Order: sequence, then C-alpha cells, then structure tokens
Amino acid sequence: MRISLLVLYSIAAWFSLFWINGILTWQLTPGGWTDDHRVWSGFFNASFWPSLVFRTIVALTIASLVACIVINTMHEFSREQMRRLQNRAAMLLSPMLFMPALGIWFLWVIPSDSRSWVLGGSAAMTMFMSIAVGASMLIGGYAVAGLIRQRLYINGATATLLTALAFGATAGGEFVREGVRKPFTIREHLYSNSIKPEEVQYLRKHGSVASDPYPLKDAEKYPTDQLRLGAAVFRFQCSTCHTIGGVNGLTHLAGTWTTDQKRMNISKLQHTKAFMPPFAGTPAELEALVQLIEWNHAGAPADWRVGADSKSLDEIETWLAEAGPNAHSDKPMETHK
Ligand code: HEC
Repeated sequence: MRISLLVLYSIAAWFSLFWINGILTWQLTPGGWTDDHRVWSGFFNASFWPSLVFRTIVALTIASLVACIVINTMHEFSREQMRRLQNRAAMLLSPMLFMPALGIWFLWVIPSDSRSWVLGGSAAMTMFMSIAVGASMLIGGYAVAGLIRQRLYINGATATLLTALAFGATAGGEFVREGVRKPFTIREHLYSNSIKPEEVQYLRKHGSVASDPYPLKDAEKYPTDQLRLGAAVFRFQCSTCHTIGGVNGLTHLAGTWTTDQKRMNISKLQHTKAFMPPFAGTPAELEALVQLIEWNHAGAPADWRVGADSKSLDEIETWLAEAGPNAHSDKPMETHK
C-alpha cells in the first residue's frame, strides 16, 4: 500500500514537471506556435525535450542524495546494510552522465542572443551558469568515483552537503533559465513589462500611461506633475525589472550619468542593454522619467525644476527613431555597438 502510494505520488510529481516544462520552454522557444497558434505546437517546442530529460535527471539526482541522508537516520540497519542501500540509491545518479550532452542540446536550440549571454555576454548569467555546471560536476564526480565505483559509505553530513550543492546548482540553473528569456515573457510576442512588440510605435506616439487608470502610491510626495508622470511611466515600463533606489535601482545604475546620457541611453534602451525592451512612450514621458531619476538621485528635495525644452524633446525623438521600435535581438548584431 505504502509503496503504491509512493509510486503514484512520483508519477503525479513527474507530470507536474512535464506540464510546467512545456509552458516554460514555450516561453523561451515558442517556435511552431508562432506560425499556427496551436497549443501542442507550442507545448512540444524546440527546447521541450532536452529540458524535460534534463529536469528529470535533476529530480533523480536530488532524490538519490536525499535518500542517502534518510538512510543515515535509519538506525535499525547495520552500517554495512546502510552502505548497500546507499549504493543502490546511488545508481539513480548515473543518468547524470547525460547532463553535458543535454545541456549542449538545450543551448543549441535557444535563441542565439540568449546563448551568448550565458557564454560570457552577461557576467551574472555566465557566473551562475558556471556555478551550476561546477557544482553538478562535483556531485557527478563524487557519485561516479565514490558511490558507484568504490561503493563507499556516505555519512549524513556528506550527503547533506552534496544535497545542498545540488540545490545550489538547481538555483543557478533556474536563475539562468529565467534570465535568458529577457526582454521577453514570451519570445517575440510579449515583453517582460507586458507590452507587445506591435504596440511600441503606438505608445511612442500616444503615450504609454495616458490611459493608465491606477492612482500612484503617495502621489503627493512628488513636487511636480512631471515627476508624477515619470513615476507612472516607471511603474508601467520599468518596475518589472527595476526599483528606483533598491535592487537593480535606476538611481544606482544611471544616477551618475549626465542628463543627456540618460535621455539617450533610455531612448535606446534595447541597445543600452540587450536585456531590455525598447522604450515605449512619448519623448515627454521619457523626459519625465529622466527627471524622476535625477530628483531621486538628488535626495527627493521638496522643490524640483520642470525639465526639457522643445530642443531636447526633439533630440529624444530622433534617438527613439534611431533605436527603432524592435528588441535588440530582432536586428543583425553587426549594426550595434
Ligand atoms: C526585462 C527587464 C528590464 C526592463 C523592463 C527594464 N530594464 Fe533596465 N536593465 C535590466 C537589466 C537586467 C539591466 C542590467 C543591470 C546590470 O548591469 O546590473 C538593466 C540596466 C539598466 C540601466 C543601466 C545600463 C548600463 O549601461 O549600465 C538603465 C539606465 C536602465 N536599465 C533603465 C531602464 C529603464 C528606464 C527602464 C524602463 C523604461 C528599464 N530599464 C526597463 C532589465 C530591465
């Protein structure tokens, strides 16, 4: 009875992996769905299979390591019995041998800009990827050399350490998997800030927050209407990935830039950092955002100027046009610095 329940539970758990894997991989490589909009063409997309098998192996690895911890708590067994049980559980670690090939397969089918970030283009993503690969190699090496070939006994502390390493590798891998999807939620269809690529031109002309019905939190703390506009634009277009003064905060990232640098780099957002979607608002909205960053950088004083004459607004307009309405990845790499 207990065993059948466990088997049932494992199957159900694996199917939750199966479904979620289809959704997550579709977000990164929507592939055939782009043409026919059929659910299954999206579900069984290019990165579905390498990701499914890879995740299944990760699940087996963690299960096997946790089993080694649990075995250590079963004091009714002799040490020799524990060792034999552990060596049996460790067999579940052997599929780890296929991980490098599956990893390469996955990298092969994802979009080339996503791949380039992991392979050096983005320091954070490359680092997390290296941690995931390094930790997996340590676990795999220990599994093959110690548990499978030499049939060692593994004590509770070592098993716990290896499990922690496996969770670390998983966390690193998940960070990278989320990261490489930027600036999209659904590749080519929906940006991370919920703006659709085909809406960008319209919003640049008519304003991104002109019909935003939601009141600002603490609207009265801003000394000018322009700053309130900037705050609404920030909330709509930037706040999915940035804060103003905290984690990935705009005042830290752009606070030291000159006013014109801010105007230009935000106009060309998708080329400033390819993780970002194009700016999708009017020049006046962009200027409001620049003022918001400068006001915050100045310590949010009670009085603030109203920024931008018509010459700077024209300049912003030119920069927006130069940057184009598409994500960086939509254009050939050679045309950008
Ligand atoms: C999809 C997520 C995302 C969105 C949306 C986004 N950004 Fe970013 N932005 C990032 C990431 C990631 C970085 C890199 C941070 C780093 O280098 O540490 C970044 C960096 C920046 C930088 C620093 C660039 C540099 O060269 O150092 C600025 C300025 C910036 N963003 C402004 C904005 C503004 C303004 C908006 C809204 C109009 C915005 N971002 C929307 C993800 C995003």
